[in-house]
Amino acid sequence: MESVRCGVIGLGRLGTRHAENLAAAVPHAQLVAVSDSQPGVLGAFTAAHPTVKGYLDYHTLLADDDVDAVVIASSTHMHATMATEAIEAGKAIFCEKPISIDLDKTIEVQQLLRAKPTLFQLGFMRRFDPAYLNAKGQIEAGTVGRAISLRSISRDPGAPPIEFAKASGGLVVDLSIHDIDLARWFAHSEVSEVYAKGSSIRYPELAQIGDIDHVEAILTFENGFVASLEGSRNSQYGYDVRTEVVCTDGALFIGELERPHLSTWTREGLGRSTIQGFLERFEDAYLGEMNAFVQAIRTGLQPAVTVDDGVQAQLVATAINRSMRCGAPIRMSDILEEGW
Ligand SMILES: NC(=O)c1ccc[n+]([C@@H]2O[C@H](COP(=O)([O-])OP(=O)(O)OC[C@H]3O[C@@H](n4cnc5c(N)ncnc54)[C@H](O)[C@@H]3O)[C@@H](O)[C@H]2O)c1
Repeated sequence: MESVRCGVIGLGRLGTRHAENLAAAVPHAQLVAVSDSQPGVLGAFTAAHPTVKGYLDYHTLLADDDVDAVVIASSTHMHATMATEAIEAGKAIFCEKPISIDLDKTIEVQQLLRAKPTLFQLGFMRRFDPAYLNAKGQIEAGTVGRAISLRSISRDPGAPPIEFAKASGGLVVDLSIHDIDLARWFAHSEVSEVYAKGSSIRYPELAQIGDIDHVEAILTFENGFVASLEGSRNSQYGYDVRTEVVCTDGALFIGELERPHLSTWTREGLGRSTIQGFLERFEDAYLGEMNAFVQAIRTGLQPAVTVDDGVQAQLVATAINRSMRCGAPIRMSDILEEGW
């Protein structure tokens, strides 16, 4: 396939980034159509990209024969429905995380993909961040020995709007799912047990919708690897995502809060500025995952992040939420045998 004709559904914070990357920065990609249910949002994008078709109803985009591949970046509650319809329409699919906030629906998408094999890549973009990729490469090359344990921190600079939070699946499914995926990726193993505690002190309004603003979770893996994860909406000072991997012959420290190459010196003193959000921190990763998606379509190779990664991470997220509710460790085998 010479070029891949792409459509993007959902032109919010992230969908716009994906659409702009496909329009201008991903080799062999052509952005041919976009959809957003808000006329103002859609009109603003198509005014800036006059050759791109704009559809208020995403069904029209899925029915468009000019579209080979679709990026689903709408609000989370629509992902599973849109993915199901995109599979039926025969489109290659890139889907933002999580696949659904309802684990049953996530598994239905997994089963449909087994019945109707379709190229499907999930948006765990940290696997495409240069620093995370470098760390993974060093472990694989044996530079620091074998990975023993991981500590990962994801602190958002504030709670999302309450309407977003309601439809997001909560802190663990919305945010910590990235750290769960990283832990599985570095561990090369599956989680056997989780233990977690959470609270909502800074944002009591989250408690009113059954959500939290802070979680600490300990994950034990089948091969003995241990991971400790912190998810938080409480870094008023910036977007703070960092991971440490301790290995048999060294350690890897990934990520930093400080904006590189900038400090401000005034009479008041020395100021260092911090990274403010995910679009800034993971700029390269968002471009990398789109490049990989288009490459996978062109080569027919399996994408690096699959629906199975989404299901496994969400099973662990579900166990973390259950552990917080009942105040006890949860074995993954119990989740699998008893249901969720
Ligand atoms: N991987 C990451 O780092 C990351 C970061 C942020 C968000 N996300 C995920 O991306 C998704 C979008 O997040 P966001 O922050 O861009 O949200 P957003 O609220 O800014 O944007 C969502 C957009 O989807 C549109 N939309 C809703 N229903 C639609 C429909 N039926 N048809 C067409 N458009 C529709 C809305 O009008 C809105 O413009 C979420 O699922 C979120 O979990 C992932």
